[in-house]
Amino acid sequence: MQDNVSLLYTEDRIAARVRALSHEIAADLPSDFLMVVVLKGAFVFAADLIRELHELNIHPEVGFITLSSYGSGTTSSGIVRVIGTLPDNIAGRRVLLVDDILDTRRTLAHARDLLLKEGAAEVRLCVLLDKPSRQEVTVTADYVGFTIDDVFVVGYGIDFAEAYRGLPYIGIVQQEDTAEPAPSTERADER
Ligand code: PRP
Repeated sequence: MQDNVSLLYTEDRIAARVRALSHEIAADLPSDFLMVVVLKGAFVFAADLIRELHELNIHPEVGFITLSSYGSGTTSSGIVRVIGTLPDNIAGRRVLLVDDILDTRRTLAHARDLLLKEGAAEVRLCVLLDKPSRQEVTVTADYVGFTIDDVFVVGYGIDFAEAYRGLPYIGIVQQEDTAEPAPSTERADER
């Protein structure tokens, strides 16, 4: 176990939940949908999700969009920046927008609006983690892995100042400057 990180979801629990999400998605979307992955945080989740979809004979095309709103801190700056370009084949497509976490929801709201402006026929939202207590704009994900309390999570692609993305599990960072104990994780559950 990594110092200063307490366990929230094990690798096995994440894998089971990603598999269940793939079944939900396969039941709803045609095989030729476009999966747009929000970088950087969603790259690990998306890599597992697309392999689970493959097992179900679902083979989406994949594109990426790089958005950033956090800088190096733990709270959102509120300004979502697009870095680089959008996938160029969005018009008329059914899109599954995949992100690691919904926090204030500004990132996914911005990404969804960009894709609709580019002519997407439909944009469905898939997130591994949903933190409804921090919602600032109204966005409801169609597919949610886990609903969590207001804790700062890392691992499985999610960073704290670019660290911890490679942790195979999801944990809660104990921030040294506050020296507060980790909040209870017992209320974090699957939706
Ligand atoms: C994180 C995360 C989500 C977003 C969620 O990205 O990956 O995309 O914040 O926050 P929000 O709901 O408050 O908008 P971040 O800006 O940290 O960039 P990263 O994905 O490169 O780590």
